Amino acid sequence: MKQIRTLCLAAGLLLAVSCRGPKTDSTIGASSDTERRVESLLSRMTLAEKIGQMNQVSAGGDVSNYADALRKGQIGSILNEVDPAKINEYQRICLEESRLGIPLLVARDVIHGFHTVFPIPLGLAATFDPDLVEEGARTAALEATAQGVRWTFSPMLDIARDPRWGRIAEGSGEDTYLDARMAEAMVYGYQGRQADSTSMAACIKHFVGYGAAEGGRDYNSTFLTERQLRNVYLPPFEAAVKAGALTLMTSFNDNDGVPSTGNTFVVKDVLRGEWGFDGLVVTDWNSMGEMIAHGFGTDRKDVARKALEAGVDMDMMTYGFLSHLEELVKTGAVKESAIDDAVRNILRVKVLLGLFEHPYVDVEKGVAVQYAPEHLAAAQRSAEESVILLKNDGVLPLKAATVRSILVTGPMADAPHDQLGTWAFDGDKGHTVTPLKALRERFPGKVTFVPGLRYSREKRNAFQDVVAAARRADVVLVFLGEEAILSGEAHSLADLNLKGSQSELLAALKATGKPVVATVMAGRPLTVERDLPNCNALLYAFHPGTMGGPALANLLFGDVNPSGKTPVTFLRTVGQAPLYYSHNMTGRPYNGETLIDDIGMEAGQTSLGNTSYYLDYGAYPLFPFGYGLSYTQFAYSGIVLDKAVYGKDDEIKVSLTLSNTGNCDGTEVVQVYVRDLVGSVTRPVKELKSFERVSLKAGESRDLEIRIPVSELAFYGLDGVKKVEPGDFQLWVAGDSASGDPVPFTVQ
Ligand code: GLC
Repeated sequence: MKQIRTLCLAAGLLLAVSCRGPKTDSTIGASSDTERRVESLLSRMTLAEKIGQMNQVSAGGDVSNYADALRKGQIGSILNEVDPAKINEYQRICLEESRLGIPLLVARDVIHGFHTVFPIPLGLAATFDPDLVEEGARTAALEATAQGVRWTFSPMLDIARDPRWGRIAEGSGEDTYLDARMAEAMVYGYQGRQADSTSMAACIKHFVGYGAAEGGRDYNSTFLTERQLRNVYLPPFEAAVKAGALTLMTSFNDNDGVPSTGNTFVVKDVLRGEWGFDGLVVTDWNSMGEMIAHGFGTDRKDVARKALEAGVDMDMMTYGFLSHLEELVKTGAVKESAIDDAVRNILRVKVLLGLFEHPYVDVEKGVAVQYAPEHLAAAQRSAEESVILLKNDGVLPLKAATVRSILVTGPMADAPHDQLGTWAFDGDKGHTVTPLKALRERFPGKVTFVPGLRYSREKRNAFQDVVAAARRADVVLVFLGEEAILSGEAHSLADLNLKGSQSELLAALKATGKPVVATVMAGRPLTVERDLPNCNALLYAFHPGTMGGPALANLLFGDVNPSGKTPVTFLRTVGQAPLYYSHNMTGRPYNGETLIDDIGMEAGQTSLGNTSYYLDYGAYPLFPFGYGLSYTQFAYSGIVLDKAVYGKDDEIKVSLTLSNTGNCDGTEVVQVYVRDLVGSVTRPVKELKSFERVSLKAGESRDLEIRIPVSELAFYGLDGVKKVEPGDFQLWVAGDSASGDPVPFTVQ
């Protein structure tokens, strides 16, 4: 056995040396010698061994459970094993006891950090800082690969415009452009800018449209047209493919009646055909098998065939390929060439990750990498930049020198597990620094802690204990929100108000007359309108991760000035869902129509309405996309374009002056939005086309120039062709999606 393996390796290395040369059309950077190594191995594989590579199993547990299957070459990948010694043993069995010695792809959901947990991806998006997000993904890869994990099921690119959907926590929010930039950042971070043993294959998911689940109910059907897919939901995936993403995962949902795992149009025609993706496509957990429940297939053999025909390479946890592909080939229902194509994609990724040369990890070295100080520092900076200041009557920043006693209260003040957020399997809560812990360390002897509520859903009629404590304090810091379990997969909510008696707690604290600073930690934008009057300031932290405590302490006391911006619209009430900034104008745009409180007892039937809004809640959100306050103020002036009329190959140059008119240093996220006034199809009222973080000293002004290629204005119009349509446009430069004045321009 050993003899054959050595021969293969030697042959592989020989090939690698003897015939280099770029394979220019590979989206994942495969070279000609990669291809030769793949072909050389494929030519020696039996049909059973090929099919084995297409099988992924969840292997947490005892290695012996799978030893036999590994020896037979029936498993190509395992997920959910993170013990490096066990991973080494899995790899050893494959390399030394199977016929061809093909290493395993070891996968894990490393979604926002491995052991060092970063803010949830929705919080990372709120930073509008792709460089920082890339650093976080790189940190996650360093920790995970050091323990043998070489494939993560991240980034999640699902556009989410309905906060009832629990997995809004896991993506980059509602906007296509922001999502695409975050996607690129995470792909670069996970895989590294050059392939080495710390490269962890990214997996862009869930392909496609999963976040548009009807009613915001997870796993529900979606009904996206091809035009919506192409203009809104597919671009982030295309950007990630262009960034070199090695793998992609199909989604659970059926779109327009077709489950993604059997959707030939999106997987074979778009992903493979149009984008030329030559990486690996894996199903989501049993999503192949779920096509039977969908009513899209009669049995496991049927859905296995449909998945293969659609372009799927690897089956996560259905065992459909392992159980039925050999028979399907023998009966002629499936060609072996289709299996060869799938196995090529799998082997290509294994070769590019260097798994044949470096299948094992150094267990001792791997431990030293976890929670390294620089990793914790990166997580803290990410948390600091992810927090959004939504309200401040001047109470913030707090003055450390003048604060003698602080009351810390609320169910999220000391919640080390829940502060990590959803999909943080490997984050050890023992390492979490909560706000309580951070504030006690910073102000020894000055902090009183009275929880008020033990968890978010607790109901209480009165709060004598916490009110009495508030009366004795100079300032009240209350930490509210939702536990990690209330967001994430399968955890959709129909009511987005603060649960339990949290709002009552806040009101009771406010009634004491003491300054009350509220911080919400959640996995989604909750509806906090009713709570705003009961706090002097409100910080919004999407589950901030391991270092959320020190980050919030720095923000509360002004060591760091908040710079986060809303990556998703904050609703006034859940009844407004879905509501997002880049909506269409409609034929009857809202123009401040009469609201229900203005309606007298008698109102003629025809005296109201005629535009697109809600009688009781109007048409506007509580906070728009891209919104966030600072401890200072920023002013935009001199916004001019270099031309009034552009050609399709031109570049728009926007000049402006940004001024920090306040009395402290700060960072603004300058955002550029564009509207195409008339198209062959109706166009959104605004679309984000550029953003950048600009840091200015107090009183400083800076001239900026932002360049946007006219080609960025292209969209799929009535003829289904992506192009820029000539006509009139408007452009905004502002600190959020609802501010600023339009500057007109024309494209010829
Ligand atoms: C889950 C999720 C997917 C995850 C996979 C493996 O059901 O939908 O995002 O990567 O299974 O854990």
